[in-house]
Amino acid sequence: MKPENINEIVGSDRNHLWHHLVQHKPWQSTDPMVIVEGKGLRVKDQNGREFLDAVSGGVWTVNVGYGREEIADAVRDQIVKMCYFANSAGNIPGAQFAEKLIDKMPGLSRVYYANSGSEANEKGFKLVRQLAAMKNDGKKHKIIYRDRDYHGTTITTLSAGGQAQRKDQYGPFTPGFVEIPHCLAYRDPRGGDPDYGVQAAKDLEKVILAEDPDTIGSICMEPITAGGGVIVPPEGYWETVQEICTRYGVLIHMDEVVCGMGRTGKWFGYQHYGVKPDMVTMAKGVASGYAAISVLATTEDLFNEFLAEPSDQMHYFRDISTFGGCAGGPAAALANMNIIERENLLDNVNQMGDYLMDGLNELMDKHEMIGEVRGKGLFVGAELVKDRGTREPVDETVAAAVVGDCLKQGVMIGRTNRSLPKYNNTLCLSPALICTRDDIDEIVTAIDVALGNVAQ
Ligand SMILES: Cc1ncc(COP(=O)(O)O)c(C=O)c1O
Repeated sequence: MKPENINEIVGSDRNHLWHHLVQHKPWQSTDPMVIVEGKGLRVKDQNGREFLDAVSGGVWTVNVGYGREEIADAVRDQIVKMCYFANSAGNIPGAQFAEKLIDKMPGLSRVYYANSGSEANEKGFKLVRQLAAMKNDGKKHKIIYRDRDYHGTTITTLSAGGQAQRKDQYGPFTPGFVEIPHCLAYRDPRGGDPDYGVQAAKDLEKVILAEDPDTIGSICMEPITAGGGVIVPPEGYWETVQEICTRYGVLIHMDEVVCGMGRTGKWFGYQHYGVKPDMVTMAKGVASGYAAISVLATTEDLFNEFLAEPSDQMHYFRDISTFGGCAGGPAAALANMNIIERENLLDNVNQMGDYLMDGLNELMDKHEMIGEVRGKGLFVGAELVKDRGTREPVDETVAAAVVGDCLKQGVMIGRTNRSLPKYNNTLCLSPALICTRDDIDEIVTAIDVALGNVAQ
């Protein structure tokens, strides 16, 4: 593109776009970044500068990397043939992807299409509310969520959000959502207890009992918390949560919007823990950002609750997502999943994830600022502290400076961003599942240099 044209585009962006999660004031004097092209893990901005993207499109999305013609071809072929019909009817890739997906999710059997993570989670909440209404006059309608988890941006998914800064100023919220504590050992006084995982899970039981088990319909949780600081649950946590949910008849709604589709080294994050969810929501990596598609997958038992004689006019899931009928979404998702299988990307995630963790753990010897490194697969966080002894978090400007320094070096990394008061101090890394040792070396070197520069 000619320089004058790209300048016009940057001008149009600055004058007319309202970007996501950004304070625009500084952009009155500097240009916004416009991403122009991408291939593999690399993207180029409007000035032709290349960056290594260690966050898969900023928010854990472009799992199979940029520039996949195979996905583009699949979407093109599908939308030329049949682009859209409301999902009250079926379409070919919709059925094919559902079959392929369910094959990776033993115990689940039904797939409901929508187009964002928030929306898929809302569907899960609606199922719980309707089930309660159909079965016991609405009593079992409450939904439990966890401190530090995030489930979306709509008012109701924010009502289920455990990140105070994402919620602040957006209330009043939807009633019937109840919070339980997080399970980050590093930030819990009980964290040194070898039985911490079980104890942390028992916080759930305390809340269920305090609220009255007959009122609790479901828990909605991330298998491994993402934007709340990359929290890998401690040993025994999920197993105990499962036992508690079974005991009190509480459905498990697993939010796999980030972890789903291989990010953690298994198809789904919950599969590391032997949990049996009743509902699973997924979005970002489902089609690696090549199409907007999200999914709610459920068990057959849950689906069967909504079967009734047609004469019962209200006893079915009266929900629709217009763009859940876009056939390009499942076409992209199918091609995306084929790539993950054919290229053995789950193996690569496990190998490269270990290599990344090792690299960051080695940096701990050099940089006192790294308090803890945690993660699973290519889903890794490094929490920054002022002092390892007291674990006092660095100010978020410090974490932002590290991210900024990496960017100057040509490496895009992420951080917890306006999520948790005082604790926006975790660097987030989630390179595409295709990354190599050289890519990881480049990422770790950039962080090494950035920490050195920022600590001065
Ligand atoms: C765990 C989790 N759930 C849900 C969402 C919401 O997804 P979306 O932005 O597609 O609505 C996000 C987004 O970051 C997320 O991280």
